[in-house]
Amino acid sequence: MSDLVRVLVVEDDAALSEILCDALQGHGYVVSPAALVRSALDQVRASEFDVAMVDLMLPDGSGIEVLREIAAQELATECIVLTGYAEVATAIEAMKLGAYDYLTKPARLEEIEVLVEKAAEKARLRRENVALRVRLERHDRPAGIVTDDPGMREILATIGRVASSELPVLVEGETGTGKELVARALHAQSPRAGAPFIAINCAAVQESLVESELFGHEKGAFTGAIARRPGVFELADRGVLFLDEVGEVSPAVQAKLLRVLESREFFRVGGTRTTQVDIRVVSATNKDMRREVAEGRFREDLYYRLGGVTIRLPPLRERRHDVGLLASVMLSRLTPRRTLSPGALDKLRAYAWPGNVRELQMVLHRAAVLSPRELLSPEDIPLDPPRPPKAEAVRAGMTLAEVERQYIESVLAEHGGHRGKAAKALGVDPKTLYNKLGAAKDKSGA
Ligand SMILES: Nc1ncnc2c1ncn2[C@@H]1O[C@H](COP(=O)(O)OP(=O)(O)OP(=O)(O)O)[C@@H](O)[C@H]1O
Ligand SMILES: [Mg+2]
Repeated sequence: MSDLVRVLVVEDDAALSEILCDALQGHGYVVSPAALVRSALDQVRASEFDVAMVDLMLPDGSGIEVLREIAAQELATECIVLTGYAEVATAIEAMKLGAYDYLTKPARLEEIEVLVEKAAEKARLRRENVALRVRLERHDRPAGIVTDDPGMREILATIGRVASSELPVLVEGETGTGKELVARALHAQSPRAGAPFIAINCAAVQESLVESELFGHEKGAFTGAIARRPGVFELADRGVLFLDEVGEVSPAVQAKLLRVLESREFFRVGGTRTTQVDIRVVSATNKDMRREVAEGRFREDLYYRLGGVTIRLPPLRERRHDVGLLASVMLSRLTPRRTLSPGALDKLRAYAWPGNVRELQMVLHRAAVLSPRELLSPEDIPLDPPRPPKAEAVRAGMTLAEVERQYIESVLAEHGGHRGKAAKALGVDPKTLYNKLGAAKDKSGA
């Protein structure tokens, strides 16, 4: 989108037209004059203007015709009407046609300049929103995945192609890049769409319970196993099993996974008969799996089993184009009437987004809740400064509870606000973390 602002000046008084054109050119606008309705219409049809200043009384007709044409073409052109005192009624008609404002002649030059500047700003905003909406309409449909990034579009095409196959898919990407969204899109576009999509977060399950969660258990298999319970492999029968954070599973569980994926059958914990399932596996990880394999932390055979097709999602900072699009779409889903000012969009685009799309979502949610304004400015969108090293956060005189909260928050931030992962990193279960955060919030009175 070019930053040039194009202004059409429709004025038949040659002296006034020249003054206006000179002044506006002096402000860096690209100005086109027109002295007749006919030539104004020709220009409006030939190119798009940001602002049109339209005199109403013209030798070959009324400026209203120009406004009508702009309205009919749904152009993102803001119109300012110039009128003599006698024509106020017509000016009101012009406002009904969507004119931005009107000025009665003789108007002061500064007044005109300020008005043109405001109208140009509004036009720019509108153009940006229209462009975003058009892109949204083109790309939002496939699977709720919003993007206009060429690399991501290729990924969408890949999803479309592999969805109908039975190939296992491994989705790699940083936290919050949309791995689960991709997994769900694969399911939705696959012949298994009518059957369940079952997700298990391998990182959030306690080590001792992983096996039972995956394969289920028989009654009495261990203390607390009061009834027979199916595992996710059984629940996902005929559907898709999503193994989230698969890079986190222990070598013992890796071996078991491999066996099930090869044989399509397994024992429930404490069971003596095998259970057979028909599932397709989609897995995700925020680790570089090739490195995990190279460094001996992940079985190579399992890696190949899971990654029939590997999809690598780029981090948000590598798809700047998507930041504005995602922000506008997410904001309009949160609160339909709010818009982002160009400055706010620039600020969002410049940020590094360590937590990727999830972080963007949280930032917008916060801004939508906290700002009373419809047009969100850069100040309405506080972004975390680059985080200081953890040790610096602890100061002398802090209570143990404060240190704990500080640390929890930093770990949470490191994991893009993902509680399951933060809990895992902290070695507590997600519920404990949840309670601790709740308690901290209550104390701070937020
Ligand atoms: N391209 C996108 N379009 C729309 N929403 C998106 C997009 N990418 C991510 N999101 C949204 O961002 C949030 C995070 O996405 P998701 O849970 O799929 O990420 P993830 O990669 O699985 O993260 P994690 O590694 O932390 O589990 C979700 O609310 C998701 O709907
Ligand atoms: Mg996820």
